[in-house]
Amino acid sequence: MAVFYDEQQRIFVLNTPDTSYVIAIVDDGYLGHVYYGKKVDTSGIRYLMREDEPPYVPGVNRREKNSFLDMFPMEYPETGMGDYRETAFCVRSSAGHRASELKYEGYEIVPGKPALEGLPATWGKEEDCTTLKLFCRDSLLNLQVCLMYTVFEKLDVITRSVLVENQGQESVYLEKVLSACLDLHDRDYEMISLAGSWARERHIQRTPLQYGRQNAASFRGTSSHQEHPFMALVTPETTQETGEVYAMNFVYSGNFLAQAEKNQFDSVRMTMGIHPEGFTWKLEPGEQFTAPEVVMVYSDAGLGRMTRTFHDLYRNNLIRSPYLYKERPILINNWEATYFDFDEQKLIDIAREASVLGIEMLVMDDGWFGKRSYDDSSLGDWQVNEEKLKGGLSYLVEEVKKTGMKFGIWFEPEMISPASELFQKHPDWAIQIPGREITQSRAQYVLDLSRQEVVDAVYEMIAAVLHSADISYVKWDMNRHLTTLGSSGLPGDRLGELMHRFTLGVYQLQERLVREFPDLLLENCSSGGSRFDPGMLYYSPQIWCSDDTDAIERLAIQEGTALIYPLSCIGAHVSVCPNHTVGRNTPFETRGHVALAGTFGYELDITKLSDEEKELVKEQTALYHKYQGLIAKGDYYRLSSWTQEGKPDSWMVVSKNKEKALLFYVQVLARANVKSSFLRLQGLLPDRRYEIDGKVYSGDVLMHAGIRIPAMQGDFRSLLMEVKAVE
Ligand code: DGJ
Repeated sequence: MAVFYDEQQRIFVLNTPDTSYVIAIVDDGYLGHVYYGKKVDTSGIRYLMREDEPPYVPGVNRREKNSFLDMFPMEYPETGMGDYRETAFCVRSSAGHRASELKYEGYEIVPGKPALEGLPATWGKEEDCTTLKLFCRDSLLNLQVCLMYTVFEKLDVITRSVLVENQGQESVYLEKVLSACLDLHDRDYEMISLAGSWARERHIQRTPLQYGRQNAASFRGTSSHQEHPFMALVTPETTQETGEVYAMNFVYSGNFLAQAEKNQFDSVRMTMGIHPEGFTWKLEPGEQFTAPEVVMVYSDAGLGRMTRTFHDLYRNNLIRSPYLYKERPILINNWEATYFDFDEQKLIDIAREASVLGIEMLVMDDGWFGKRSYDDSSLGDWQVNEEKLKGGLSYLVEEVKKTGMKFGIWFEPEMISPASELFQKHPDWAIQIPGREITQSRAQYVLDLSRQEVVDAVYEMIAAVLHSADISYVKWDMNRHLTTLGSSGLPGDRLGELMHRFTLGVYQLQERLVREFPDLLLENCSSGGSRFDPGMLYYSPQIWCSDDTDAIERLAIQEGTALIYPLSCIGAHVSVCPNHTVGRNTPFETRGHVALAGTFGYELDITKLSDEEKELVKEQTALYHKYQGLIAKGDYYRLSSWTQEGKPDSWMVVSKNKEKALLFYVQVLARANVKSSFLRLQGLLPDRRYEIDGKVYSGDVLMHAGIRIPAMQGDFRSLLMEVKAVE
């Protein structure tokens, strides 16, 4: 059984195919965390609670209750009564006291997975998963807290969320409602997180876990370029193929805290949820608050297995788009080709040239609306600039379609330019603090999407454009973070809700969009990859990964992104050299190979390519059609890493039935006086024979000795090899 209550031990057992998670009801009604890890026979497991050891449970030793609260492995720890580690829950009463004591009241086990109102979340049919609800109550405030755990039948995944209901007579203020806490016994761990910057997103960072708190966080209103709502604790020997991994990923696109804390007794607490800084949620009697979902994955077979579990979960149980496995059109985006300097003829010329080379969709990026000829105006004025695009949008779309291409368009719906008609009309729609200068970023302000009338108005403008022409794709951009946090729609004691309400407004907008335009291919973007998170994947099957399109820089960015997210989500394009961000020259072929490990497309002025490059475009678009299914559905194996190990970068995608695989290899820097090398493959069947470049090898030799990689002259050279099972 996936979830059951063991009455004798008073424990709840949650089993996935290969993991167990155990929670105990403890003396005085506390919930203690017993175990998470490799699947085990849980009979007799309660001894792990150490209830017979000083300071003992409060029922035995009330005079040392504080010591108990500060060391016991808690399932959902709270502020105010004596746990000085990072807690998961903090409530302030109307009298101003910050404390609660949640005591276990009862449980429910239900098939399937309840949706989280207004929030993105993984989903599953009744036969795919089971949900455990643990009801707790603070009797003084009459606050009910429901801890929800969903256990997947076929994946080593447990998801968590928390539902708080005020059943009392007075308002309370929720100051912290983290979605998950995991108390681990004393072991040495290393922490893996993803850190970066604009154009340098999600670089893998691994450090030994020290005493104290180490975290990744965002206060920016997006999941951010800088840090990522992901954390893994791994045992020090962990590699791609071996070692234990505890990972958490947050299905949310706003402020977050992902933290690990090693305490005085060497045990470790891992927490994740909405960042408490600046967050307060007023809960009136009868109201509920839902914390977004955390996905937990445990692997005892290294990081590779963790990665493949996340990929399968997100493909099977998060992304709803009909394009998930459909062959997505190869697109060409005009941003790096023209920036703001284009007209209808330039776009039609690009479309004509692109269509004969196998490209299937033209995406018109920023600059088509209002009076926008640079980044300093018109956001919010979502009407076509007919001076720039003569004949209007429908003329352009029809001309593009005559070339055989589909048409896509860019929006930045969450923003408002000070220089816009919308701001002239509704200056109060920008997020702002009365009397203070609104901080500009890229010369723009953020719309107050915590207000329903603003959400409605923006939605109507976007929907009108989409109804006005045959538009197959939308790139949804978001180019600044939130500041000067004030809203005329919220009273003072609710201003701490603004960031979360803004995120809920974004979710509502995207939900309405995908419902009204179910065939639309939506790509999220935020100054490149500032909002590449599972929350966004619930609405769009792909996200623009980074504004850095340099193939070598992309190795680190895409390696970090693919640590959690499937390749089919990773927006990746071939662009020109010298690269616009770093000025590097790389072979056209290498740029194609790196982009193939993502959604694949182009971002350049195709009319300016040489004949030789155009021939390569034809070859690359054919490669995309040949391998797109394998790349979208296959299992990802990381073989070696340029940024982590200083080795050539290589990875594989292996079909689920292990009959086919694709090997990507980028040498990065050439070295003098080297021989050919052997690269050990992964994920094949040891007893099958595989053909590579006309030669046949056995699977176990390929995995234990490796395939021979020729010594190559020249920096940034790459190889793409097909691996095919033969009889
Ligand atoms: C940031 C995006 O990441 C780019 O691809 C481009 O769309 C620009 N914004 C347009 O302003």
